[in-house]
Parts: sequence; C-alpha cells; structure tokens
Amino acid sequence: MTKAEGVPYLDLSREFDSLKDEWFSMITEDGARGSWILGPNVHAFEKQAAEFVGTAHAIGVANGTDALYLSLRALGIGPGDEVITTPYTFFATSEVIDMVGATPVFVDIDAASFNINPDLVEQAVTAKTRAIIPVHLFGNPADMTAINAIADKNGLAVVEDAAQAFGAQHESKRVGSLGNTGCFSFYPTKVLGCYGDGGLLTTNSNEIAEAVRKLRNHGAAAAFQHDEVGMNSRLDEVQAALLRLKLKKLDENIASRQRIASLYDEKLGALDIICPERPQQGSHAFNLYTIRSSKRDLIRQALMDNSIGNSTCYPSPLALQEVYKHLSYTAEDFPVSVALGAEVLSLPVFPDMSDEQVERVCQVIKQAVSS
Ligand SMILES: Cc1ncc(COP(=O)(O)O)c(C=O)c1O
Repeated sequence: MTKAEGVPYLDLSREFDSLKDEWFSMITEDGARGSWILGPNVHAFEKQAAEFVGTAHAIGVANGTDALYLSLRALGIGPGDEVITTPYTFFATSEVIDMVGATPVFVDIDAASFNINPDLVEQAVTAKTRAIIPVHLFGNPADMTAINAIADKNGLAVVEDAAQAFGAQHESKRVGSLGNTGCFSFYPTKVLGCYGDGGLLTTNSNEIAEAVRKLRNHGAAAAFQHDEVGMNSRLDEVQAALLRLKLKKLDENIASRQRIASLYDEKLGALDIICPERPQQGSHAFNLYTIRSSKRDLIRQALMDNSIGNSTCYPSPLALQEVYKHLSYTAEDFPVSVALGAEVLSLPVFPDMSDEQVERVCQVIKQAVSS
C-alpha cells in the first residue's frame, strides 16, 4: 500500500475469494437436491449456531429486524404494553416495538460503553412495562447482570439485540444466551455477516422456539394448517450454507478485529481521543471501532479527503426523530446520547485489514488533530 491509497470502511473481497469455491459447491448440492427452502444447510447452521451461542435453540430468520419482531410476538407483547430500550442504536431496535403495537420507552446510555444505562432502566419501569431490549452496541456487551436483575425483580422479559455482537461475551457467556431471546443480524457488515440478508433468534425456551418456528412460516403448525397470522421470515438456504463456513472461522475473525482495535488504541491513545472501552468481564467483538473526539468533524473531513471510510453512527437519538414526535421527548431527556452524537466516529475495522492500513488511518487522524 502506498501512502496515497485510501482505506475502505469494510472490504470483504479477500474473504469472498477464500470461501467461494466451497460455498458454490454447497449451493450446487442444494441444486441437485432441489432443497432451497429450510433445507439441510439451514438445519445444520441452526444446530451449529445454538452450540456456539450456548442456547437450546437457534432459529434462522430473514433478517435481524424480524428476529426482534418475532421475539416480541412470541412473548405476546402488543398494544398497551411498554418496552424499555436505548435511543442510541439502529432504528430496527425500536421500530419492532411499534410494529407489534406497543410503546417504546427510551432511556439514555452510559457514555463509556455506549450501552443502555441500567439505573435509568430501573427508573423507567411502570405497571405497563413488559420487556427490556438492551443492545450490545458496536459489539460491546451491555450490562446483562444489572439488566437481568431489574427484569427478574419486575417480572419483565429481556430481548437481547445482539445484531452487532455475534460472538461477544458477557462474563463467560456468549451474548444471545443471556435474555429470553437473542437476536442477530447477518447483514454483510456484521461480525458474522452473509452476502445478502439473514438473521437468527436464539432462546433456551421451548415455548418461544416453537412459537417462532411457526410464526416465521406463516403461523403454520403443519402444511396448510395455520394457527395464527405469521409471516414469511425464513433464513435462505444459500445464505445458511455460507454462514456455516463463516461461523467456523468466527473466533479467529473476532481475534483479528480485537488485534486491530488494540493497534488503534495504542496509536490513537497518545492523541486527545477517547478509544472504546473494553467490557470489564467479557469480550468485545468489535463490529465497529468507535472513537470519541471534540474534533470529530475535523477528523472526519481529513479521512474523507484521504478516501478513508468512516461513519458517524449514531448522530441523533432515535427518540428525538420525526417518527417519535408524538412521544414528546426533548434533548434534555438524553444528554449523553445527544453529546455523543456530535463526537463519535467509527473507523475501518475488518478481519483482513492490514497493519499498514491501520497505520495510514492513524497517521491521517494524527495530522488532523495536530493541525
Ligand atoms: C442494533 C441493530 N439492531 C437491529 C438491526 C437489524 O438487522 P437487519 O438489518 O438484519 O434487519 C441492525 C442492523 O443494522 C442493528 O445494527
């Protein structure tokens, strides 16, 4: 790499080259069998994923949004119910609460972890609260010990939004095994991503698993026998084949992400930049490496001028957006999320990223902050 070369935010081209022969031959086998829907690859991946996450069940669905939506449906959450969540996340987390007819209740986050603040969750519980949706943001596990304690005390369900955190650990357990359900997205940018859309719901509950298996397939208990209104949300067989291959290498890929994160820490820590904190007990999957700086806009401009990929997720708390105008929240309700919105910057991090690429990103940032 020469100095003038840019650095992409994400580059999956080497990974694709290394997987394509095996993946294509699995697809060819599917073709020979004619098994394209809920076939052997989906079943094998569900088994492999349940073992990896450490749950009794793993159910492949069409995407991460559906995993969240189907969790709320299986838990019987609907109109009149409240669900507490974070405003500092991708919209799907709260969107599904509205999709089942319940009301999202937003509470602010902790600045160091980017995750929901359990003290504020406790204060937001009312007689209508039915569930909490913590998000393991950027791959960093939320404080599940505190969240589960609040849920137990108040008889609430916990739906983990683990879309960005496949493989991350809270204490010695994988995320997705700590709540009533765990919800994963396989959108290509995720820690475990496929080459299209895909998702997974994990649970230890036989009842939830049975309900979700029906709901993802039009509420059908058997062919042409519909117990309730469900939807078509099946994980695609072609994506499941790829996910089987990628899951085998996931721990290795997370280790690469963590190594890149440590390199960034080392180089950026010397500048006046706040690097992401590590969980005290557990491990970060580093789906994103997100720094904080009062000079964020200056750094961002320098990265863009040098063709270096970056993102400002998340610039404004969901609760303050047009869609939630009727809930009448104000910026004072979310001081931490609002402040972070102006300071955060996610840098390139992907398993095949080279040390030279990390060095190049850090060099450009160093020049920007010292100019
Ligand atoms: C935190 C979070 N939740 C949910 C989702 C939804 O996942 P999907 O895009 O697979 O529907 C995403 C994906 O971007 C996400 O980042």
